[in-house]
Amino acid sequence: MMKKNNTYKIAVVPGDGTGPEVVNEGLKVLKEAGKKFGFNYETTMFNFGGERYLKTQKILDDKDIDELKKYSAIYLGAIGHPDVKPGILEVGILLKLRFSLDQYINLRPVKLYNSNFCPLKDKRPEDIDFVVVRENSEGLYKGMGEFKEKGTKNEIAIQTSYNTRKGVERCIRYAFEYTRKRNRRKSLTLCGKVNVLTYAWDLWQRTFNEVAKEYPDIKTDYAHVDATTMWFVKNPEWFDVIVTDNIFGDIITDLGAMIQGGMGIASGGNINPQGVSMFEPIGGSAPKYTGKNVINPLAAICAMGMMLENLGEEKAARAVEESVIKVVNTKLKSLAAGKMGYSTTEVGDLVVENLSFGGAKTEA
Ligand code: IPM
Ligand code: MN
Repeated sequence: MMKKNNTYKIAVVPGDGTGPEVVNEGLKVLKEAGKKFGFNYETTMFNFGGERYLKTQKILDDKDIDELKKYSAIYLGAIGHPDVKPGILEVGILLKLRFSLDQYINLRPVKLYNSNFCPLKDKRPEDIDFVVVRENSEGLYKGMGEFKEKGTKNEIAIQTSYNTRKGVERCIRYAFEYTRKRNRRKSLTLCGKVNVLTYAWDLWQRTFNEVAKEYPDIKTDYAHVDATTMWFVKNPEWFDVIVTDNIFGDIITDLGAMIQGGMGIASGGNINPQGVSMFEPIGGSAPKYTGKNVINPLAAICAMGMMLENLGEEKAARAVEESVIKVVNTKLKSLAAGKMGYSTTEVGDLVVENLSFGGAKTEA
């Protein structure tokens, strides 16, 4: 963990679409947090993304990765450009960053801040408050596979889910530690598909059960991924922390984002506990809203809060979240782009104005 009074070196990758707009608001909040909570930082901008690719054909090379390794954290807007074939930037930038910086955890909190913005009937903030720990370096995302007889009637496309004992175990261990530290219901659910994917999930389940023995204080549970989506809608209050593989984590966290109020508020951290972590809103580049000052910056602002927590600025992190909660509960008409009752920049200003020293909770 980074020590206090360091100057944090933040690499900023605004990226594509609405990425730069939401990143601006996150940086506004960072500036205010630095002033109020007395930490120093410097930012460096990196123009990785679709625009640069279209102009220079550059995606992201090993030199860029080496450079990023010098930073305390990376703050990312969005990757994905309508004029670039899907897959090139996502794999070449986003996944390359996650993999080559060995950010093996994708931490995605699902927390409802205001029941008016929940599509589920009768669910309150205390009912929707869990965290998904998504494995972020292996599984189907490893990119392993092959075509056989490509282009013929007999074509076969194979995509392999790659799971190592070490990779699975470090993720599961992180999830147990996180559940303990979070100290809410002290319950960890393994979300998988042991009834069909009998190699991968056999390894996951064995590892989970073995590691569980070292954490007698944590209640454990298992749910199939399909059932998990059902419980997200029916009884989200049953979950505290969920651990799952890369693809299942990807899928269930979009549903998670919807029940917490939508992509406008959902954020995540790509974490390397021993290295450089990267924080991002999970919503993507939203090209149709680009440049209109209508996109919701709260997901990016919450990602900034996660970044501060990861840097060890826990008070600042809490203040950011409390300010967001206040703004969501007292100002915004909706969390959707163009319907908030405020522009992107105004929402950022509101979070800045409500950022209080010592936390909003005691002063509100
Ligand atoms: C996410 C995104 C990415 C993923 C895409 C853009 C590669 O959907 O962060 O969840 O699949 O991980
Ligand atoms: Mn996704």
